Amino acid sequence: MRAYDIIKHKRDGKKLTQPEIASIVSGFVDGSLPDYQMAAFLMAVYFRGMDEEETYWLTDCMRTSGDLINLDGIEGFTVDKHSTGGVGDKTSLVLGPVLAALGLKVAKMSGRGLGHTGGTIDKLEAIKGFSCELNTRQFIDAVNSIGVVIVGQTGNLVPADKKIYALRDVTATVDSIPLIAASIMSKKLAVANKGLVLDVKVGSGAFMKNLEDARELARLMVKIGTQAGRKVTAVLSNMDEPLGEMIGNAVEVIEAVDTLRNHGPQSFTCLIKTLAAEALALGAGLKREEAEKKVTEVLADGRAYAKFLEMVKFQGGDVAMIEDYSKLPAARKTDTLKADRDGYISKIDCEEIGLAAMMLGAGRETKESVIDMGVGLKLVKHVGDKISKGDVLAELYLNPERDNSRAIERLREAIKLSDNKVVAQKLILDIVS
Ligand code: URA
Repeated sequence: MRAYDIIKHKRDGKKLTQPEIASIVSGFVDGSLPDYQMAAFLMAVYFRGMDEEETYWLTDCMRTSGDLINLDGIEGFTVDKHSTGGVGDKTSLVLGPVLAALGLKVAKMSGRGLGHTGGTIDKLEAIKGFSCELNTRQFIDAVNSIGVVIVGQTGNLVPADKKIYALRDVTATVDSIPLIAASIMSKKLAVANKGLVLDVKVGSGAFMKNLEDARELARLMVKIGTQAGRKVTAVLSNMDEPLGEMIGNAVEVIEAVDTLRNHGPQSFTCLIKTLAAEALALGAGLKREEAEKKVTEVLADGRAYAKFLEMVKFQGGDVAMIEDYSKLPAARKTDTLKADRDGYISKIDCEEIGLAAMMLGAGRETKESVIDMGVGLKLVKHVGDKISKGDVLAELYLNPERDNSRAIERLREAIKLSDNKVVAQKLILDIVS
């Protein structure tokens, strides 16, 4: 089977066979297929697309390209959540304990942040002593006894995606629905969770800029997951502004803990309740309303917060920092960003906000950069709010030893004002199951 012929088939709009797709993926992973042929293949897929069957085959070939994580030692319904990417996204810190408090099992593997996106592992490491490196025995024991654990990714999970994604990034082939679906689902299906809730972000700060494309991606991923024998639901949520109010590391831990204590921002709490109710519906067969009632209860009566404390303790973190936020890393200087005119907030550009936070020191510019855990920002105003000149738009938590001027300018540019009244979109746009 010649790579040339497979690329030509796709270029000419023909349906590929499973062996053809397997040969492209395995050749690329073992190095026998050069980058230029893979780049041509990806561009052919970008323009010609793939049908559901081809996308499933691509996903499965990628999934089996490296280690597979078996969760057989865990009793109960194991469930995972995946977000297609956002800024200020501290969902895993809250959702894991909420689901564990409801009897589900959350064996979460998360990543670090790079560029404009933050990472769950970095946020948790703002808590002194918190270790995201557990061995397999500790990992399984933690899930069985507490119900939730969050660790960094280990092993050689889906090497095909690492190589293909790096090439997509430099060949303008990232925003292809079948390629995104295969990339996400290959990683999710490499870990043997029984259930999966996908949080598909829609809007200026997301891969999917409009609802129609987001629905197509969600349907495709739900179909792939279901075909692989998993229970899958996708929630479509608005990403026209960052999630919640805090962006940074220690400040996002504070916002997550506030939410677990039932006084988090309303929009973030709403997303948590929706995702948790969907997971509970998958794991316990409850109707949505009934599931949401149970989620509301564990947030209100402290059970979700207690689970978070148990998880922090098990993973070596300093619980005193959670009980008293003043012990968490803090910025040495605070400032505010004020509106320079009247108007309505029309958009808060997530990518720009994420880059501004990174430039303040909250994120990594390169893999080697060291994060400043205490810096970040709080968005005080949101899309739709009426603003008068001089109003505080954001609180800034700064390291005075850095030159923060470019980051603050970027932040100002990211918050767009309009003269006309703006109606904020609702947060939950659809659910595909
Ligand atoms: N997230 C992924 O993991 N892969 C994509 O292609 C897009 C978003």
